[in-house]
Parts: sequence; C-alpha cells; structure tokens
Amino acid sequence: MNDMTPTREQRSAALEGMGCKRKRVEDIRFTQGKGNYVDDVKLPGMLHGDFVRSPHPHARVKSIDDSEALKVPGVLAVITAETLKTVNLAWMPTLAGDVQMVLADGKVLFQNQEVAFVVATDRYAADDGINKVKVEYEPLPPLIDPFKAMDADAPVLREDLAGKTTGAHGPRKHHNHIFEWTVGDKDLTDAAFKKADVTIKEMISYHRTHPSPLETCQCVCSFDKIKGELTIWGTFQAPHVIRTVVALIAKIPEQKIHVIAPDIGGGFGNKVGAYPGYICAAVASIVTGKPVKWVEDRIENLTATSFARDYHMTTEIAATKEGKVTGLRVHVLADHGAFDACADPSKWPAGFFNIVTGSYDFPTAHLAVDGIYTNKAPGGVAYRCSFRVTEAAYCIERGMDILAQKLGMDPAELRLKNFIKPEQFPYHSALGWEYDSGDYHTAMRKMMESVDYAGLRKQQAEQRAAFKRGETREIMGLGVSFFTEIVGAGPSKNCDILGIAMFDSCEIRMHPTGAGIARMGTKSQGQGHETTWAQIIATEIGIPADNIMVEEGNTDTAPYGLGTYGSRSTPVAGAAIAMAARKIRAKAQMIAAYKLEVHEDDLEWDIDGFRVKGLPEKVMSMKDICWAAYNSVPPGMEPGLEAVSYYDPPNMTYPFGAYICVMTIDVDTGVYKVKRFYALDDCGTRINPMIIEGQVHGGLTEAFAIAMGQEIRYDAEGNVVTGSFMDFFMPTAVETPHWETDFTVTPSPHHPIGAKGVGESPNVGGVPAFSNAVNDAFSFLGSTHIQMPHDFWRNWLAAKNLGVFG
Ligand code: CDP
Repeated sequence: MNDMTPTREQRSAALEGMGCKRKRVEDIRFTQGKGNYVDDVKLPGMLHGDFVRSPHPHARVKSIDDSEALKVPGVLAVITAETLKTVNLAWMPTLAGDVQMVLADGKVLFQNQEVAFVVATDRYAADDGINKVKVEYEPLPPLIDPFKAMDADAPVLREDLAGKTTGAHGPRKHHNHIFEWTVGDKDLTDAAFKKADVTIKEMISYHRTHPSPLETCQCVCSFDKIKGELTIWGTFQAPHVIRTVVALIAKIPEQKIHVIAPDIGGGFGNKVGAYPGYICAAVASIVTGKPVKWVEDRIENLTATSFARDYHMTTEIAATKEGKVTGLRVHVLADHGAFDACADPSKWPAGFFNIVTGSYDFPTAHLAVDGIYTNKAPGGVAYRCSFRVTEAAYCIERGMDILAQKLGMDPAELRLKNFIKPEQFPYHSALGWEYDSGDYHTAMRKMMESVDYAGLRKQQAEQRAAFKRGETREIMGLGVSFFTEIVGAGPSKNCDILGIAMFDSCEIRMHPTGAGIARMGTKSQGQGHETTWAQIIATEIGIPADNIMVEEGNTDTAPYGLGTYGSRSTPVAGAAIAMAARKIRAKAQMIAAYKLEVHEDDLEWDIDGFRVKGLPEKVMSMKDICWAAYNSVPPGMEPGLEAVSYYDPPNMTYPFGAYICVMTIDVDTGVYKVKRFYALDDCGTRINPMIIEGQVHGGLTEAFAIAMGQEIRYDAEGNVVTGSFMDFFMPTAVETPHWETDFTVTPSPHHPIGAKGVGESPNVGGVPAFSNAVNDAFSFLGSTHIQMPHDFWRNWLAAKNLGVFG
C-alpha cells in the first residue's frame, strides 16, 4: 500500500451507492430543456386528434352531424361511437371490472365526456372541426349529490346495466349502486361500542380532487399496415399493462404492439389508466394509416381524465374514559362518477382502505364501503397515494383528534397511548393486514421534542386567552398527524391487475469494461429512478453508479413489470434490482475464485470486489471480473455477466411518519399562515436522502394544496366549476410553506435492502396535519369538525358559524 491507495471510505464513496446524496443524473437533460416528452415526438405525416365533448352532465344523444366538420380544411375524419362499433371498441373494460364508453353511445353521463374524435392535419384544424360537429342532446336530470344516488326516485344513470343485480364485486342494491365491500368483525365491533365509556361519530368527507400533473395525458399512435404493428408513445405510468390491455381489446398480437413511455412530466396516478384518447388515436391511425397524436389540454385533464378521493366517511370510535381505543366502525360512501374506473388491484374495490385502523392497536373494527354512480367524471386514481390509503389516513387521523377533543386529552398523548408497540410487530391489524415493522413511539417523541410541542401548546393557550380578551383576532392551531402507509403492491397472493400478478422486474447486463445497463418494469415520472436504481446496483456489485445506465419505459426492451404508482417502485422493483444484482455478484464470485485459484467459500466481498479471506492483498475488483466474464470464465460456465429478477414481494411495506403543522388563522378574513411544518418520515433503509427530501417536499406541497383549497367541485346542475388553474388551487413557490424534514430508520424485515416506499407518505400524512391544524384552531370555539378544503372563504365561514362576529 502506498499513499495513493484509496482508503475503504474513498472506495465506498466512489461508488455513490445507497445512502449517498447523489445528484439526479436525469436533471442534466431536464434543466437544459433536453427532455424527450410525448409532445416532442413528431413523425412524418402525423395527424392530430381532438374531442367533441358534452356540455351536459346527463343527456341523451339524439344525433351527431359531422357534415360541416368534414368541410373544414385539414379535417380528414370524425370518429363516433358508431365508427368504433365496427371494430368492437365503442366501450372498453375498466381496471375495476366495469365497462366505460369510449365515445358517447346514446347517452352522456358527465360534463366534458368524449362524444366524437376529430382527426385533422394539425391541431388547429381539428379544433375548428370540433366546433362544426352538431350534436343534438336531450338533457336528463343530473345526479350530483352522492347522498341522493340511492334514493328510490334517483335517475337511472347506467341504462346498460339495467336488470343487472350483480357487478364485478358482488350484489348491487340499487340501479346506481356499484358494490358493497365489508371487512372486519361486525358483531364484535358493535359489542365494543355498546360497552364503550366514550364514543364519537362524525361524517368526514375527503373531497374530489385531481392529480393535475403539469404534463397532461397524451399519446402518439402509429400503425404500420405492412407489418401489422402498432407503436404507441404515451404518458404511461405502467407501459406493459397498457400493452396487454391494447392486445386484449384491439385483438392485436402482443408482440406486435410497442409501447414507449418517454420522459414523463409528473403522473401522480393520473397516467395509470387507459383513456378514450388512447383508443381513438389508435383507431384513427389504423383507419388513416398515418401516425395520430392526441394531447389533452388543461381543462380536459381536470374535468375528464380521472379524479381522486370523493370518499364520504362516517367514522365512529369507541374508547375507555382513560382514552384507550376499543373499536372502530367506518362506513364509506364512495362516489365513482359515471363509470367505475378506479385504478385499484382487481380484488380491492376500495383499494387498501382497510388500513383505516392506522397506527393504533384497535382490538376490533368493521368497515363497509358502498360504491355509487353519479354524473361526474370516472376515475378514482391513487393521487400520490397507495390505493385509498390517503383517505384512510385522513379518516383515522381526524377521528383521533375528535376523540381527543371529546376526552379532553392532548391529541399527541392520545396517539402515544394507543400506538402499536415495537414488540407487537409483525402486527396483525383488526382489518386484516400484517404490518412489517415500526417504532411509532420513538418517531412521535422525536417530533414532539424537535418542535417543542409542550412549548407550542403553552403558546396556543396564551393566544386563546388573548383572543378571548379581545386583544387579537388570530387563532392558533396545532395539527398533529401520525400515519402508517401500506405500499408495495404487491404480493401475488392478493394483488393483481386484470389477472396479472403485481410483481416487478429488473434485468442487468454488465459490459466487458465494467459498465452496464439496467432495465426495469417501472417508469419514473420525476422520482429520479435513473439516479437511485443505479445506487442500489452500485452498492450490491461494487461498480460506480455512474457506470450503470438505467432505462425504463420501453416494452420491447424492459422486462415485464407493473409500473410506477402507489410508492410500489422501491418495495417491489427496488427489491428486484437488488436480487438481480445479487445474481450478478454470485456469478462474479465464481469467476473471481477461478481467477484467484481459490475455492469460492474462501472469498469475501469487500466494497468493490472480492478478496481472499486472510490474504487482503489477493483481490479481484468487480471491474476486472466484468472483463474476465467475457474471456476467461471457468470451464463449463457460460460467458457474459447478466441477470434478470422477477420479484414477487412476500408482503407490503409499511412506512410511517409523525407530522405537525403550526398554523394561525385570522378570523375576520379566513386567511391562514402556516408558521411551521415539520415532517418526520421513516421509509426504512434510505437509498438517496436528497431524493427522499425532494419527494417529501413535493408530497407536502400537494398535501397543502388539497387540504387548503384544491378541489374538483360541481354545481347542482353538474357543471365543473373548478376546471382550470384559475379556480383549481395549484400552489406555487409563493404560497408553499417552508418544510422541515427529519427521519428515523426502521428497516423492512422482508425487503432485500430493508427499504420501504416514500413517494406518497407526505401526501398521506400531510393532509390530516393541515386539516387537524385548522380544526384544532377552531376547536376552543366549540367546533368539532370542519370539512376540507380549508380555503380562506371556508375559514371565514367557519368563524362566522361559530359566532365570532357576535
Ligand atoms: O413508486 P415511486 O417511485 O413513486 O415511489 P418510491 O418507491 O417511494 O420512490 C420514490 C423515489 O424515492 C425513488 O427515486 C426511490 O429510489 C427513492 N427512495 C429512496 O431513496 N429510499 C427509500 N427508502 C424509498 C424511496
């Protein structure tokens, strides 16, 4: 060894492996405007498609006259449901087992529903054509209020389901009913409520909102008539699933469909589903023989391609007078809009909402969910959320605060009293999940110490006294939230999409010079996979992350995977990456043993290569092993160094966190100020702390938006009144508060590198923290629960209703 020999620390640092704050490699192209998005795809002779949409939320379509549209220069075709019927594509299956009109077939069921698809030589001509298509409607009474959907005299929305008493998830109780899903022990739970010293009951609504990624949904479809092949470039979070769906419904052999998801400008769940635009662009390309592009505009995105939440949760908690919870009973009225197009694993009509017992040791619980149809857009996507977990966390975290208020207990103390204890893991919840690991008390106490919780409560008491004396018009709220997520869908035993088990995959191919390429079934939409996936491989096989190129999103080259949503990438694909890398290392060990002329068992792994046990100078680096893999492998061994892993996780992962929001509200204007927001996350082993922090900042910003104003709101006539960024709250750096982040590390015991997902956590934990802050602020004036979103107007209204203006 001489002075130039790198130390172990230097060798380890050179890898930029797990735990390193490696800079995002994809930002080199993004920050220079060199990303390659769907709208950058420009093919020779490419046509453009755009939709005629319904102004009515509920109407019969009497006729469609396209004669004037076809006279517009550049307009080549107008596709309607009648056209689609000739290829059996007027309706499409949804991920939730329902069917959905691709184009209006006799009726429209929500405002801005797709009625006809105009194909033209450019987008402007297509728009001109749209304005010339004459559609005659006969308006029908709209059904907007979910609580009236199952009234005896409620209008029949889905005439196609007439007489069907059973749906994809069991019996239907009414013509607008989709399913009833129940979990838990009803009798035991009812008995717990009968015995309880204290109970609470509150209808907690989580309003309809929308993921609204900055890049809207879009695609380019190009059908090659000679080869019979269809290539689709699209904003797809799950490219392989799209390929399979297209093969099934368009009856094109799967190997002749090429799906490519290039760079994606945010997805947040919006880009999981299959939308009419994809089908119409594909059909238009098949009909015209030309490539066809479809790009949504902002209003179309907000009003037609999916929505999130819209759960109305009647929440009851039973407890002892000392504050020990003894039972939880929740009924959810789930507004699914016109078609049940929820993006959940097949067997879960309400996603993983049965995580609603949260972080608390409920001895018994019972949950019932009723899904219903209304005249609103279909969807129900997991907006930065793992399948209805956000709704569940909001429900229980508001519920716990309401219980604390009734008991006269501090909300943090109530939580500490009821947390699942570290020694109870793996923990079996009353509603059927097995939580893998957690240390909730440590996380909560760290949060309380970090923000001086006791000091904040004292400050609040002083502020309240000053308010009562008339010395201030500001009230102060502390919003505590402690969430447990369930991410990593999922184990094949209980998770599939259209019958395909929700595994994920990784293929690694090492080149002779010690560089390599890795491909996965996931697809980044901004999460930084190109950076972090290489870090896992770097640590596992001792090759610098910079030498590993990560490629996702091309179904011709990537191994089959179920895509990226619901924080599943790290729990599932992250595990596949580690397992594939371990296969590489196992073969590398055999090659090193042969080259070093020792038995494999005499070798030990040392950061970036193997060394002979007891002879530290006898080493072979992974870089040298890569070379040897292509020229001097042991006799009988195949040359080359590559591996594939398909990983079926044994369980989900259960990240958790302790958040607090400190807020003041001016009662005269309703204007709020977020004074402080502290977020402690535990996502197990941390691959890239800087990326995690970025994920937390992004998720908290979306949580802030949702809790404080972001809403898809309908008026009584069924018009969307928040259909643009003028009305739909999209916070910028001006409105967004400062975030303080922190962490604990409780590895997942079943994940190969101990990692849990993190992308959704801040949205899941953030919304209840904001809402609890508003509710806590008003609680001393006699309020129990104020519905979200808490915009200035609603805050002012709450103050008025509580009598602060005398
Ligand atoms: O599925 P999705 O990529 O949206 O979510 P995720 O699995 O939570 O990962 C989001 C980003 O955070 C990825 O770049 C992960 O590699 C990174 N991450 C991390 O560095 N450490 C973790 N324990 C979890 C995620």
